[in-house]
Amino acid sequence: MKIKLALLLISVFVLLTTCTKDQAGPDGCFQEDVLPIFISNCTMSGCHNPKDKRAGYDLSNYEGIMKGIKPKHPLNSEIYKTIKGNNPSMPERPYTKLSSKDVNMIKLWINMGARNSANCKSCDTSNFTYSDRIKPIMQSWCVGCHNSGNNSGGFNLSDYSGVTAAIANNKLLGSIKHQTGFIAMPQNGGQISPCEIAAIEKWIVKGAPN
Ligand code: HEC
Repeated sequence: MKIKLALLLISVFVLLTTCTKDQAGPDGCFQEDVLPIFISNCTMSGCHNPKDKRAGYDLSNYEGIMKGIKPKHPLNSEIYKTIKGNNPSMPERPYTKLSSKDVNMIKLWINMGARNSANCKSCDTSNFTYSDRIKPIMQSWCVGCHNSGNNSGGFNLSDYSGVTAAIANNKLLGSIKHQTGFIAMPQNGGQISPCEIAAIEKWIVKGAPN
């Protein structure tokens, strides 16, 4: 009887850990994995940015996000409930809902204690194709505001041709490096990591392969 119970507990444990891994990756780094989701999907004009603070929420930084988070308790966290579709369901129309990968990443991060963690990953600048290295950066940091339905500033960064158009316009690097004469991106807060900027720069120098 005891052995059966032990086996059951072990299999439940294995199942839980593998599920979490498959859905959101092993870590849950605030600066690299979680903040980009909020900035790209929640801080548009009229929404949860430092200026508009809709419903009292500025979701462009850690302190603001923590107002709606109970560490280790996703189901009691206001923010987690709304992205899961509970009333109110966020992001609201015309913006698209978060992918289940993003929802699970936020859940994992809350379960791990919702810390303000940064620099969790080693810098990988070895891979320079659009699909391997650049697309994921755009997806997490930029596409929420720059997609085909909402091409802020005229830029749709959801596919290869849109990203190369921004390069041809000489706007991409200046904006992500926050150089003078450019509008700093992502809009409303944060900056993509030096490692990600280096990867994008090297990719452009190599001719921006798809
Ligand atoms: C919260 C929404 C939002 C996010 C996230 C965002 N952008 Fe923007 N972006 C805008 C808006 C709005 C404009 C137009 C601003 C204007 O014209 O005043 C813009 C303009 C730009 C421009 C033109 C800049 C210039 O100097 O003219 C570029 C390039 C750009 N974005 C790239 C990016 C990249 C790359 C990312 C991700 C790292 C990103 N954006 C993330 C909303 C966003």
